[in-house]
Amino acid sequence: MFTSLSVVCILTLLQLSTTCISSHTQLQGTLHRRNYFYIGEQYVNTPGTNNGSEIAFGQIYVEHLVPATVTQSLPVLMIHGHGMTGTNFLNTPDGRLGWADYFMNQGFEIYIVDQPSRGRSAWQMGVDGDQSDFDATYISSHFTAVEKFNLWPQAALHTQWPGNGTAGDPIFDNFYASTMPSLVSDKESSIKVKKAIGKLLDDIGPVILLTHSQSGQYGWILGDFRPSLIKTIIALEPIGPPFINAVFPPLTPARPFGLTEIPVTYSPPVSSSCDLKPEIVPALTNASLGTTCFRQAAPARQLVNLKEIPTLVVTSESSYHAIYDSCTVEYLAQAGVPVTHVELADVGIKGNAHMMFMEKNGLEIAEKVVLEWIQNTVNK
Ligand SMILES: *[C@@H]1O[C@H](CO)[C@@H](O)[C@H](O)[C@H]1NC(C)=O
Ligand SMILES: *[C@@H]1O[C@H](CO)[C@@H](O)[C@H](O)[C@H]1NC(C)=O
Ligand SMILES: *[C@@H]1O[C@H](CO)[C@@H](O)[C@H](O)[C@H]1NC(C)=O
Repeated sequence: MFTSLSVVCILTLLQLSTTCISSHTQLQGTLHRRNYFYIGEQYVNTPGTNNGSEIAFGQIYVEHLVPATVTQSLPVLMIHGHGMTGTNFLNTPDGRLGWADYFMNQGFEIYIVDQPSRGRSAWQMGVDGDQSDFDATYISSHFTAVEKFNLWPQAALHTQWPGNGTAGDPIFDNFYASTMPSLVSDKESSIKVKKAIGKLLDDIGPVILLTHSQSGQYGWILGDFRPSLIKTIIALEPIGPPFINAVFPPLTPARPFGLTEIPVTYSPPVSSSCDLKPEIVPALTNASLGTTCFRQAAPARQLVNLKEIPTLVVTSESSYHAIYDSCTVEYLAQAGVPVTHVELADVGIKGNAHMMFMEKNGLEIAEKVVLEWIQNTVNK
């Protein structure tokens, strides 16, 4: 009896592991060619460098994925957020297809970067600024297991992360292990992104630009810098709201140029950020939620270089961004940017948090929101 039970258990285990293994090996993908290159490097002599020689800094790693069948005229350039790298868009931490594959399958060429000083883009000691990490609890409480921490009211609605979203769960562990030290200063990051990705755009543009979180502000900076090379900006939960941090104390001033740390072109021009004259939007401000929403005092200066770039902001149901993304959208609209806000719950897509594109229904978001937007705007 005992023996046959053990045999049953072992057989079941074997079947289980066979299922697990085959579900990975049967992963379907899109036939494509991969190339990578670096761009944006600058040589500099440092105290540790041999005389007459130099090291390079500021360059970014760019992965270029070309599907066997390209049917779309514009490539998609994907920029990840803080603590992340380009792996965000390859496959998901539980081994499902990611957005890169989805869009290649739709006939798009893809470019994926690692931000300057991050991942495969070198961080150079003595040249690049200080770095910091997201710890595992931060990732669980803000991104993957927000319903267990309830740091904001909508967090309770979160259902879409695969696995329990905390350390010890193999899917979480795989995701957490992919996170990387990031430059502490968003100003430094912005300057370096503008230089390196600006150069990339000059080589590969025009593009469809997809940003997430921290890279949301790079979307506005790059759109301002190279307006003719960005045909649309799709901003997944862009960093915000204007002028101040929100939800998580300390609610310190940030983004002195409204949505960016570094100057962008306003008309009339701003000589300092004070010219923007922030005023509170009472309807979108809620002290108990830890958010103060600012816009410009009328008449609002216009973000003139973004006026011709159709922009989509996507917000999930249960992310902390659900509290303040409408304030960011209001700011863009007031400054003359043609912006559309899709809140996923309004189109029947429920239970997502900040890492929506790698959650269980990530491909549904790609198809019903992002692809739909591209077809209705740039492909129309
Ligand atoms: C570089 O040259 C200077 C002046 O000749 C010398 O003092 C210094 O030791 C050299 N540094 C290295 C790393 O070779
Ligand atoms: C998450 O799953 C892991 C692995 O099964 C387990 O060790 C851990 O206790 C779980 N954590 C929570 C909060 O459920
Ligand atoms: C602020 O948010 C809290 C929590 O969601 C809510 O109970 C309250 O009604 C809100 N206050 C205002 C003025 O909207």
